[in-house]
Amino acid sequence: MDSRHILVTGGCGFIGSNFIRHMLSTSNTRITNMDKLTYAGNLENLKDLEGHPFYTFVRGDIADEADVERAFKTPVDGVINFAAESHVDRSIINPDAFIRTNIYGTYRLLEQARKKGTARFLQVSTDEVYGSLGETGKFREETPLAPNSPYSASKAAADMLAMAYHKTFGLPVIITRCSNNYGPYQFPEKLIPLLVSNALEDRDLPVYGDGLNVRDWIHVKDHCAALARVLEKGVPGNIYNVGGGNERTNLEIVEIILEIVGKPRTLIRHVQDRPGHDRRYAIDSTKLRRELGFEVSVPFRSGMEETVRWYVEHRSWWERIKTGEYLSYYETWYKNR
Ligand code: NAD
Ligand code: DAU
Repeated sequence: MDSRHILVTGGCGFIGSNFIRHMLSTSNTRITNMDKLTYAGNLENLKDLEGHPFYTFVRGDIADEADVERAFKTPVDGVINFAAESHVDRSIINPDAFIRTNIYGTYRLLEQARKKGTARFLQVSTDEVYGSLGETGKFREETPLAPNSPYSASKAAADMLAMAYHKTFGLPVIITRCSNNYGPYQFPEKLIPLLVSNALEDRDLPVYGDGLNVRDWIHVKDHCAALARVLEKGVPGNIYNVGGGNERTNLEIVEIILEIVGKPRTLIRHVQDRPGHDRRYAIDSTKLRRELGFEVSVPFRSGMEETVRWYVEHRSWWERIKTGEYLSYYETWYKNR
């Protein structure tokens, strides 16, 4: 989609900011980034792109009709929707914003895209829509949706709406469902940046339940490269799973981080489990590999070393977040567990 104009929503968050940087450094795409700047959106994440001739930021809410209309004023060749409330624990405390942004906001974008037309509408979804696995098996694109948290249920609802817009109105919708991402600029409420930053501050590392829940980790660079490939070559009406092929228990993740930062196991603290905690995720990405020729490229060990180094070198980035609104949210939640 070179020289095209792409509307990115939620580009000031973790994956969106990595994606915008990836697109601007690998293609001639012009990007408009519309972000509401919630607690998770941070202009610092894209500070290096200020003044870039192919990059425009507009503050806006995907659930606000007028904001969405404004974002489509300049013809849009493609939409990639990252904007979402993304943290499972917050969705358990208060699902409101999840329903509004993830479902109603996606509907507003689909509706405007239908009115104005666009060559691609990429809905960035998650493997969590499939629910939880037992000890064996992997999620395939045909696996029935069985979400367990308000977050994953809101994402599943958005997926269904998006596919309905394809089937009913012919909107060229594509859905990707990716596993757990790690890398730079991830908000320090999510497992890896939380553990790294806590370890660097000699604080406890909270592990939910027995710590044996399994996630399939993928470096954000690989997820962004997969999204770029899907945007370019994906077939409308299709769903593509994106996974790292890298299943780890949460305790394994803790051990790796402690080893890299050189801190003791005594920091580990088992805490009350997350309600409805999905036991295991594993993704089958055969379709993405076979049909679009995509392979992940970042080995987990070096990806983790590079990620930990980033948090060590960007201490003021996460310290500012942890001492702001996030701290009070986190402390309240943490104390109540
Ligand atoms: P994030 O929480 O870091 O960022 C979300 C961004 O969306 C923020 O910049 C926020 O300000 C913005 N936003 C929230 N509500 C908005 C609204 N109403 N209007 C406009 N902007 C709004 O999330 P992330 O981890 O970067 O995830 C991005 C997307 O990828 C989400 O849709 C998420 O469901 C999906 N996803 C995430 C992962 C993961 O491991 N993080 C894996 C698979 C899929
Ligand atoms: O699978 C994709 C999903 O991955 C995305 O759709 C979500 O947006 C993203 O937040 C992530 O969801 P998870 O719930 O898997 O991520 P989180 O980092 O919150 O937790 C990862 C695992 O670690 C999970 O089993 C819960 C556990 N955990 C998490 C936190 C924050 C802990 O044990 N302790 C913690 O303090």
